Amino acid sequence: MVISENQIRKGETSARVQKTLQIAIDGPAGAGKSTVAKRVADALGYLYIDTGAMYRAATWLIIQKNIDLSDHSAIARAVAESKIELRPGDAEEKIHVFVNGVEVTKQIRSQNITKLVSPLAAIGAIREHLVNQQRQLAMTGGVVLDGRDIGTVVLPDANVKIFLTASPSVRAQRRLIELKSLGESADYETLLKDIVERDQRDTNREIAPLRMADDAVLILSDNMSVDDVVAHIIKLCA
Ligand code: CDP
Repeated sequence: MVISENQIRKGETSARVQKTLQIAIDGPAGAGKSTVAKRVADALGYLYIDTGAMYRAATWLIIQKNIDLSDHSAIARAVAESKIELRPGDAEEKIHVFVNGVEVTKQIRSQNITKLVSPLAAIGAIREHLVNQQRQLAMTGGVVLDGRDIGTVVLPDANVKIFLTASPSVRAQRRLIELKSLGESADYETLLKDIVERDQRDTNREIAPLRMADDAVLILSDNMSVDDVVAHIIKLCA
């Protein structure tokens, strides 16, 4: 069965897909996970949970509070005492992110946060706290989560697991287009270097490294459009 772009609209495909699935989409930086995850969630009438945004929000909080990045217990305390919220966005903003009631949706995408998030996401106490929240949000099903460890650690029993990737050059090129459309200055070589470095950190960390789950479906999206990827995932859910 091929699902065309026209059919991928809110609700239209949901009749054929159970309302309670847990869909996990993992993969490296800039693979297009958030765009695809949001589109899949909208098509199925599911909730989209951007777990990367939660790690970015925690990073924003730590910078805001001026906490020494080597003080892991202070970092863990600050994250545990804070309220990180994801609220559904419209087509323009995939999701709205709040920390203790302050909207940080735009701030958490800055290059500075992007640089710091990966080392902070390697801290066990932060992960423990955010993973608990993610499991609670996903408990009832009808959810699409994207991240690095969803299929391996957060939801090892997820109904559908995807590992979405593309070659580093394609991912850097896509990130460049995305940043330019947001009016941010960026250059291809720097983005490529940052993406490769972040992948290495995420893959080589001790806790919950970026890894494809044994039962995940690999999607290499170099030659696929967003519509192609979304249609492929929805087909796997039916
Ligand atoms: O969108 P992009 O691929 O740039 O990254 P993101 O999904 O916003 O995630 C930012 C960072 O958070 C990643 O590089 C990981 O270090 C961390 N992360 C994680 O450790 N586990 C997750 N489930 C999601 C993100």
